[in-house]
Amino acid sequence: MAPMSIANPAQLALDGADVRALLGNWPVGDGPLHRLLSSGLRALADQGRVAPGTRLPPERALAEALRVSRTTVAAAYAALKDEGVLAARQGSGTYVAPPGGPRRGDDAVVGALARNQLFAALEPGQPGTLDLATAILPAARCVVGALPGADEVRSACRSTGYLPSGSEQLRSAIAERYCAQGLSTNADQVLVTSGAQQAISLVASLYLRPGDPVVVDQPTFPGALDVFRACGARLLSMPVDGGGARVDVLERLVRRSAPHLVYLVATHHNPMGSVLTAARRERLAAVAAGGQIPVVDDTALTDLDHGHGDVPPPVAAFDPDAPVITIGSMSKLFWGGLRIGWVRAAEPVITRLRRLKTIADLGSPLLEQAWSERLFHHVEEARAERQAQLPHRLRVLETALADLEPSWRWDRPAGGVALWVQIPGDARALAASALRHGVRVVPGPQFCADEGCADHLRITFTQDPEVLVEGVRRLARAWEDQASVLDGGVSPVVV
Ligand SMILES: Cc1ncc(COP(=O)(O)O)c(C=O)c1O
Repeated sequence: MAPMSIANPAQLALDGADVRALLGNWPVGDGPLHRLLSSGLRALADQGRVAPGTRLPPERALAEALRVSRTTVAAAYAALKDEGVLAARQGSGTYVAPPGGPRRGDDAVVGALARNQLFAALEPGQPGTLDLATAILPAARCVVGALPGADEVRSACRSTGYLPSGSEQLRSAIAERYCAQGLSTNADQVLVTSGAQQAISLVASLYLRPGDPVVVDQPTFPGALDVFRACGARLLSMPVDGGGARVDVLERLVRRSAPHLVYLVATHHNPMGSVLTAARRERLAAVAAGGQIPVVDDTALTDLDHGHGDVPPPVAAFDPDAPVITIGSMSKLFWGGLRIGWVRAAEPVITRLRRLKTIADLGSPLLEQAWSERLFHHVEEARAERQAQLPHRLRVLETALADLEPSWRWDRPAGGVALWVQIPGDARALAASALRHGVRVVPGPQFCADEGCADHLRITFTQDPEVLVEGVRRLARAWEDQASVLDGGVSPVVV
């Protein structure tokens, strides 16, 4: 459903039902209800979905519409008045304040945090909540031992420290790894970025203007959706099945909508864990080459295989002339705290991306790059460590879930850190209830450009087995609550 907005200044009064419809599924997230409500209302103002000057319903009316206490609404209104988001007019109620100060520039960020629970999970939250939501792995054991020594620090200090392309040594190590995977690459075809997330942002700012069509796999990585939405792109979905993204659907979308960019996670798809077959990679590279459509192959999760055999080479290897942009990351195999990722593309594309990187931050930190370069000598060791951990944790999660509810369905992932689970119910309501029971999972709509997949949940298995078992226990309690609400035929009451 397209987001509702209230933009006509002639109708500047909302009643409780209007605000409820605009807020959607607002009580999702950590923290007290009044804070969740104030974030929801703030996001509506920041995104321009409620125009400045709009009168909000009285506290009691909104409390009734949202089925919360009046003190919850009063506290939310009070906090927003303190921030200058709302204003009170003597005797006539509460209004959305005119834009002012720096808040407006935060639109995309506030919008992303309100929508994307994965990013919101990085904000300070409720202690004791178990995380079955984020795909964040503990640092691999080799990370500490690979810390750069004094000699490397000294040598780094001899340079200016500003290297927008990234260090020559790290770019060479990345290029060598691609060559070993069957994708011929030289160091000048690589740009070091601050994580794969920045790589996606740079590529989006190179290719996209507001309104441009972009094809994304569905479901997909929410961090990419946020970037494309912040650019004002028009998102089109390409479904994913057990063989990866449906390239046949992409071919139709290309004919119909001439997309300016295609984004997908071909290997160990996030959230499904599937691998794009070699035949589909070949066809995808041909689509990219034929229409000269830039295709982003996000390989952030490539190294997280569960030991079931080789995966095909990156999509770019299937046609050297296709405009395929390969994105990678240190985060999953080694450690997210390095904040090192990269882009591999044709040299002219790298040159343009380097200019954007220079504007963004003048280059990523050199010591983390030296550290990353050292870690490239430990790839096999880190892969073995992940393979010893992940399939075991997956089995623990699958067993616990099967005991919890035999009607839940999933396909076993070939790699990655998540189960994409279909439930006979509303995943958003379950995720909201799960949070109240102390466990965080992410509902399917967060992974979809059209906010579909309302009957799916992503549950990650990055945590220790005991945490997974306890998390599923809490999820079971949330599911029981849900089931009793549905059996009683009433909508959930949020208090
Ligand atoms: C598919 C995908 N791409 C990119 C990222 C972001 O990675 P980084 O930590 O390198 O920014 C993630 C993180 O979960 C991811 O799953």
